[in-house]
Amino acid sequence: RTAAPAALVIFGASGDLTRRKLLPAVYNLALSRLLPGGFAVVGVARRPKPDFADDMREAVNKFSRRRPIDDAAWGELERGISYVQGNFDEPETYKALGAELERLDKERGTGKSRVFYLAVSPDQVPGIVRGLREANLVTPAGAGRNGDHFERIVVEKPFGEDLESAHDLNRELGSHLAESQIYRIDHYLGKETVQNLLVLRFGNTIFEPLWSRQHVDRVELTVAEDIGVEGRGKFYEQVGITRDIVQNHALQLLTLVAMEPPSSWDANAVRDEKVKVLRALRPITGKAVLDHTVRAQYAAGVVRGEHVPGYREEPDVAKDSKTETYVALKAHVDNWRWSGVPFTLRTGKRLAKRVAEVVLHFKPLPHGLFRGQDGTQPNALVMRLQPDEGISLRFAAKVPGSGMALRGVTMDFRYGAAFGSSTPEAYERLLLDVLRGDATLFTRSDEVEAQWRFIDPIFAGWASEHAKVASYPAGSWGPEEADALAAPRGWRRP
Ligand code: BG6
Repeated sequence: RTAAPAALVIFGASGDLTRRKLLPAVYNLALSRLLPGGFAVVGVARRPKPDFADDMREAVNKFSRRRPIDDAAWGELERGISYVQGNFDEPETYKALGAELERLDKERGTGKSRVFYLAVSPDQVPGIVRGLREANLVTPAGAGRNGDHFERIVVEKPFGEDLESAHDLNRELGSHLAESQIYRIDHYLGKETVQNLLVLRFGNTIFEPLWSRQHVDRVELTVAEDIGVEGRGKFYEQVGITRDIVQNHALQLLTLVAMEPPSSWDANAVRDEKVKVLRALRPITGKAVLDHTVRAQYAAGVVRGEHVPGYREEPDVAKDSKTETYVALKAHVDNWRWSGVPFTLRTGKRLAKRVAEVVLHFKPLPHGLFRGQDGTQPNALVMRLQPDEGISLRFAAKVPGSGMALRGVTMDFRYGAAFGSSTPEAYERLLLDVLRGDATLFTRSDEVEAQWRFIDPIFAGWASEHAKVASYPAGSWGPEEADALAAPRGWRRP
């Protein structure tokens, strides 16, 4: 599908996401000639920003995957960049935006189609949607059937802050728009390596027969970062890593690993299967949180040779904060395929290094035939999502020589070597999908609610059981308390 002309309106245009991800993504799409002929970007935010386009140029120069900036490509894009200053709760803002969009239709040929990207906190979403609706900038008629012009809304994560608020938000959005106009973004789904999980499983014949309780001993998911909260203390105090990463990115990875094959590569077919996995997740409630979860916070430590402060010393963080920056949990998918297979998951800020990976640990041998075999580990399939993207399979091989000694070796696939290193960023893929009207890689309303249905009881359990917030030194692999979740074999050292 090609992308029809449209204007991209970004609410929260003065924020970090716009500079670091959205504008660099738009620029790279322009450079790859993937943007529609008529295209424009309108930033909307409260602060005056007379130099918005210049700021964006600087941001692209700093954060684009392809640098230095190409003057011709940027110049063309820049002619379509403008800014509307205003409060999100004032009707004048939407009036001014409407006038600007009409101008762009005439001058830039944006064809009356709009994508409204809400890069704002969840509490601001309903007000903006109401403002757009009241100004008639979005209407259910903008579902864009029959190739007419379209109006679409992209909502950033976290979508709500618990099941109730997510449900309210879905209802609010649903009262103004058709579901096909709503794109709940989770940028992990835009990552090439994450999509490749599906290709590995469903584009090959040899893996899927092994992909079940018959052969898999346990599944291990890691989303580790070495950065701290990076000046986002205020946001983190409100959100914590469970809402920032577990509810969305980590659960998405889990569903892609555990889902059944969909009957087609179609938005609803794929999402139906994902929702089934989320519904099959065994709830972790009450006292079970003590045995199945660990939450923790980083203390001061050393990361890549540098001393860094603890979470409570970060700006805008309370000195007695209980917000978690690390979570580990042991989940079970109670269905035919996965019965009895633990899914252990860990994620944290200020861990030893940045790495995201999914590992299938296969069952141990039923009977040892060779000497020294105890020293080798069972087979494992490691899917490295970032960095050093690739897939490796661990197996035992004979050490050359007269005996029959074994050693673990790996068979390795590396993206860089196979495809070159400059692959599109997640936001490039996803912005293009919104422009093309493809929602396969976006979260559906029932899906996001199913995610919260799993997360809410964990928070309730932490509160009712007075679960402790453990501590780990920055630069480590997390708190000791998490070891019990991965016993007896322990967490893999990526
Ligand atoms: C974002 C979180 O969604 O994902 C951040 O808000 C986190 O806290 C980021 O750092 C990680 O994304 P990536 O693509 O760098 O793994």
